Amino acid sequence: MEFNVKSGNPEKQRSACVVVGVFDSRKLSHAGEQIDTVSDGYLSNLLRRGDMEGKLGQVLLLHNVPNTLSDRVLLIGCGKERDFSDKHYHQVIAKAITTLNETGSMEAVCFLSELNVKGRDTHWKVRRAVEATQDTLYAFEAFKSKTDAARRPVRKLVFNVTSRKDLTIGEQAIKEGMAVAKGTSKAKDLANLPPNILNPAYLAQEAQKLAADNDKIDCLVLDEAELKEMGMGAFTAVSQGSDNPGKLIVLKYLAGGSQQKPIVLVGKGITFDSGGISLKPGDKMDEMKYDMGGAASVFGSFVSITELELAINLIVVITSAENMPSGSACRPGDIVTTLSGQTVEILNTDAEGRLVLCDALTYAERFNPDVVIDVATLTGACVVALGDQASGLLSNHNPLAHELLNAGELCGDRAWRLPLWDEYQEQLDSNFADMSNLGGRGAGTITAACFLSRFTKKYHWAHLDIAGTAWRSGKQKGATGRPVPLLTQYIITRSQH
Ligand code: BES
Ligand code: MN
Ligand code: ZN
Repeated sequence: MEFNVKSGNPEKQRSACVVVGVFDSRKLSHAGEQIDTVSDGYLSNLLRRGDMEGKLGQVLLLHNVPNTLSDRVLLIGCGKERDFSDKHYHQVIAKAITTLNETGSMEAVCFLSELNVKGRDTHWKVRRAVEATQDTLYAFEAFKSKTDAARRPVRKLVFNVTSRKDLTIGEQAIKEGMAVAKGTSKAKDLANLPPNILNPAYLAQEAQKLAADNDKIDCLVLDEAELKEMGMGAFTAVSQGSDNPGKLIVLKYLAGGSQQKPIVLVGKGITFDSGGISLKPGDKMDEMKYDMGGAASVFGSFVSITELELAINLIVVITSAENMPSGSACRPGDIVTTLSGQTVEILNTDAEGRLVLCDALTYAERFNPDVVIDVATLTGACVVALGDQASGLLSNHNPLAHELLNAGELCGDRAWRLPLWDEYQEQLDSNFADMSNLGGRGAGTITAACFLSRFTKKYHWAHLDIAGTAWRSGKQKGATGRPVPLLTQYIITRSQH
């Protein structure tokens, strides 16, 4: 898909389609009024006749509108003007894209990017339009013999901005939007792959490919024997039950100079979580292929950032393993020694995410990080608490937590903070080891984070629980690519000061 920005009049566009907004009730947007004026009230007549009310999601495709130069004019209902929010803007763009794609306009000039969205500027609107477009057009069809791809798909979109001085801003926004979309789409692809194909070795190869194609990227893969040797007893307790050996994957992009401490992103990459000996029930078990969503999203964010060539130091650590029951699997009751030296009594082998993560978090110390952010589909409790709207956020550093919350608000990939009070720590007490991996009935998301916090004392750290946000279930089943937008936004903002 090719994107451009332009500043012009709608009636003067020579294009397959011009897209303009209509508000409820029957109120033309500025671009709509311009077309209406040159066409002697063609649009307002249609509205008066009742062809369109302007309700959110309505569409009306017109051909040969008098005195315009494009083949079509697509009217998009935007709802009440005073309610027009981030969410409505996103929906309206998505609706326009699907309609264009289904009605044979291979290119279009879109004036929706001119609409007023409360508190949002041109940069935001263009970037969000690009991201929403790519999100809408995404399809994972690698394993379909026949695809229902559009016959004449939209290939080129021009977003109009109100003044010529906004053109450079618009171009920068397109660049950012494309980079975020590329990383998001990579995260979706990785997560959507079936677990018989995407195993730890496959993920490691993907990382190595990235490094082979870009000399600013380095990749290091540690195999299970090396992890054991190093002392990652918690990590290998999880991977030992599977025939697919675990891998620790490190990606480095150091463009910020040797004085700058790196941002480290750690991703949970369980390529399938059966629960292990504490086997999960069968319902929706296929969705546990998404238990590498954290890994996919840190990988995708890495793609976005390297694409933007930001002058920062970024290190991604992916803990990849398969959690399986077998004769060599770890058992409830096993006690293991973590890389930090602390011991853990495994009371439930299905609480495996914290076990692979804790060793990676200790490993991250060696990079002398500025901040460490881990991303994980960690707890079912987080789905109960926050559903699919917000990722759970827990942190030992308030400024970092606020930066992440703000980044999420800005890009529409939100997080919500939960407390990490000391009082919760005692739920992890064990009779036999330094701690257990199970926190009991209440506050499952918090106690999981409490467990991790015991391995992150040496640096500023935040944890994103994406169990509810990484994928959608049901008819629309598929990876969302979240929180690539949030993480990328956080890093973009940081690179600006
Ligand atoms: N990967 C799961 C968490 C999960 C479950 C994410 C359902 C999304 C949907 C994780 O490894 C897990 O099994 N967590 C357990 C922890 C419990 C045993 C303490 C859970 O949430 O039930
Ligand atoms: Mn589990
Ligand atoms: Zn899991």
